[in-house]
Amino acid sequence: MRIVLVGPPGAGKGTQAAYLAKNLAIPHISTGDLFRANISQGTPLGQKAQEYMRAGQLVPDEVTIGMAKDRMQQADAEGGFLLDGFPRNLAQAEALDEILKTDGLRLDAVLDLEVPEDEVVKRIAGRRICRNDSSHVFHAIYNQPKAEGVCDTCGGELYQREDDSEDTVRKRLEVYHSETEPIIDYYKAQGLVVTISALGKVAEVTQRAMAALERAE
Ligand code: AP5
Ligand code: ZN
Repeated sequence: MRIVLVGPPGAGKGTQAAYLAKNLAIPHISTGDLFRANISQGTPLGQKAQEYMRAGQLVPDEVTIGMAKDRMQQADAEGGFLLDGFPRNLAQAEALDEILKTDGLRLDAVLDLEVPEDEVVKRIAGRRICRNDSSHVFHAIYNQPKAEGVCDTCGGELYQREDDSEDTVRKRLEVYHSETEPIIDYYKAQGLVVTISALGKVAEVTQRAMAALERAE
């Protein structure tokens, strides 16, 4: 299956992607995680991405599309992928269509996570991620690690993401509304969008998502 996950910052895309990818046996591809891994390894790509991420802006398409394409091509050998955070504007959505078309492939569904803005602000304010791997995600209140400040998955140190400050979150929400939301209409025109509420417990949202994806097949 080839699925795109869409929703505002803090909606729970990364959290849900981890469970959905496991249930569906497809790799989870998060462009945010790929950028953060490049930043922590000090690669030229990471250095380019860092200034945009700090400011809550999108990393330029020429950097992002190439990186996502390379990762997707590896993933296709594993039977598909779950994209989290890509595409994030119309140019990226069109580029994705082209990449898939060249290989004779298509998307199966676009899962849209709906969450009110006051809830995403609370989720982001309490988010803690792992130094070793930014896909290990916790919350100071809603999704607490067993030991405070320590990752359950790998024992790494938990910290607050640099772009989770109040000002940067406001900017990221603005960018989501202006740049990313239009892709939902783009995919609606292709009949691919399934929208679910992302409120409630993590496991409840996963169940809702799995049921919606089964209906979309
Ligand atoms: P990215 O890393 O993709 O960030 P984002 O889209 O802003 O999404 P988040 O990671 O903030 O939230 P999420 O929806 O994954 O929520 P999570 O599961 O962590 O991108 C960061 C930056 O990279 C961008 O600003 C941009 O600069 C750049 N970038 C990335 N992709 C790009 C692209 N394609 N093009 C250009 N630039 C790009 O959950 C949030 C919190 O809530 C956690 O603490 C979690 O424990 C908690 N939580 C989750 N579910 C629940 C629940 N059901 N109930 C209560 N708490 C919950
Ligand atoms: Zn970890």
